[in-house]
Amino acid sequence: MSDDSPRDDKPSGLTRRALFKGAGAAAAAGAVFRSIEAGAKESDTVPANVQGPGTVPVELDVNGAKKKLEIEPRQTLLEVLRLPLDLTGAKPVCDRGTCGACTVWLDEKPVYACTVLGVEAAGRKVTTVEGLGTPEAMSSIQKTFVAEDALQCGFCTPGMVMSAAWAVKKHGKDLTEDQARAACAGNLCRCGTYPHVLKAALACARKGS
Ligand code: FES
Ligand code: FES
Repeated sequence: MSDDSPRDDKPSGLTRRALFKGAGAAAAAGAVFRSIEAGAKESDTVPANVQGPGTVPVELDVNGAKKKLEIEPRQTLLEVLRLPLDLTGAKPVCDRGTCGACTVWLDEKPVYACTVLGVEAAGRKVTTVEGLGTPEAMSSIQKTFVAEDALQCGFCTPGMVMSAAWAVKKHGKDLTEDQARAACAGNLCRCGTYPHVLKAALACARKGS
């Protein structure tokens, strides 16, 4: 798979689906082994290190600031960013890893925040669109999106900006249209802004920032 499409592989190696599938498989395997070993009772097969359903303490590094929080292990990173952190740039649209509106960076790589658990982000570097720039002090990619008219309703825009910014950061001035297209391939835009998004990414790259 292309290295320019970061979400082809799951950066953490763990999605909600994989987590639940993995937990089920691990519990089943554990039950079999323990039963064979010692004729264990059913109550002995509860997996160790179970978290929740109550809240657990985590420390997140979001846009360079340390945040100590109490969150439920079932909460996605997207939910944690929007509430309680009030970072509403990443948008909940499909909530199932298909539209890209919730894209943020986890350890400098784009991920769908709706497919990452908040507890998975503990100790890792999270960057949201608010971390790139603010309306008063926009980053180069944000300014170029405006200059190139790369948004209409704006719902996909924060996620699109995060993907385009990653492509610029990764390839610099040498960014090609194919590389920009691959980086943004996981972001859907119902308004059809794709040509302008690609122009913005390439213009930003050529500016060298
Ligand atoms: S809301 Fe996360 S991919 Fe659509
Ligand atoms: S600008 Fe409307 S969905 Fe992309």
